[in-house]
Amino acid sequence: MKFFIYKVFKKLNGYLHGFSTLYSSILMKSKLWLLDCRYGKNLKANGKVTIEVFNRGSIKFGDNFIVNSRFHSNLVGLTNKAIFTTYGTGSIEIGDNCGFSGSVISARNKIIIGNRILIGGNSRIYDHDYHSLNPKLRTPRETDFANVRSAPVVVGDDVFIGINVIILKGVNIGEGSIIAAGSVVTLRDIPPYSLVAGNPAKIVKKINFN
Ligand SMILES: CC(C)(COP(=O)(O)OP(=O)(O)OC[C@H]1O[C@@H](n2cnc3c(N)ncnc32)[C@H](O)[C@@H]1OP(=O)(O)O)[C@@H](O)C(=O)NCCC(=O)NCCS
Repeated sequence: MKFFIYKVFKKLNGYLHGFSTLYSSILMKSKLWLLDCRYGKNLKANGKVTIEVFNRGSIKFGDNFIVNSRFHSNLVGLTNKAIFTTYGTGSIEIGDNCGFSGSVISARNKIIIGNRILIGGNSRIYDHDYHSLNPKLRTPRETDFANVRSAPVVVGDDVFIGINVIILKGVNIGEGSIIAAGSVVTLRDIPPYSLVAGNPAKIVKKINFN
C-alpha cells in the first residue's frame, strides 16, 4: 500500500516538475529575447535562472542547453540557482550540448565555453575580480567599478568541470580536460586532456582513454 502511495506521489511530483520546467524555460527564453540575447533549439531550464545584462553585454546559448537551477533538479546538493551576468561590454558564449547545474557565470570581458561541456553543481566562472584591488580606488563605487581587472576565460570542447569549482580570470582550459571537485583555477594555460585539481589548482596528470 505504502509503495502504491509512493508511486502515485512520484508521478504527481513528476507532472509538477514537468510543468515547472516548462514555465521556467519559457521565462528564460522570454528574458533572453527581451535582452537581445541568443539561444539555440531545445533550451531547457529546470528552475528559475537569473540573467542580467548590464550595459551593452551579450549572452549566447547554443543548441540543447540544459540548466539545473532548483534543488531537486540535480541531487548533488545545489546551494544556489544558476546566474548569468555581464557587465559593460562583457560577453558569454556557450556552445552546443552543454549542461550546467547551479552555475554562476559572470563576464566583464569574454567567457567562451565550447561544446559538450558539463559543469557540476555550484561551480563558478568569473573573468573579473568584481572590485578594484587597489584600496584607494575601491571607494567611491565609481572608481572601484572603473578599475576592475578582467581577462578572457576560454573552456575548450568536452571539458568536464566538477562540483564547487571556481575558475578565475585569464584561464584557458584545453579540450577534454577535467577540473576536479573543489578546485580553484588560476592557471593561465591548461593543455588539452589534463586533469587539474586543488587550490590553487595544478595539473595532476594527463588523461588518456586509449
Ligand atoms: C577529478 C576526478 C574525476 C578524478 O578522478 P580519477 O581520475 O580517478 O583521479 P584520481 O583519484 O586517481 O586522482 C589523481 C590525483 O588527483 C588528486 N585529486 C583528485 N581529485 C581531487 C580533488 N577534487 N582535489 C584535490 N586533489 C584531487 C588525487 O588525490 C590524486 O593525487 P595523487 O596522484 O597525489 O595521489 C575526481 O577526483 C573528482 O573530482 N570527482 C568529482 C566529480 C564531480 O564533481 N562531478 C560532478 C557532480 S555535479
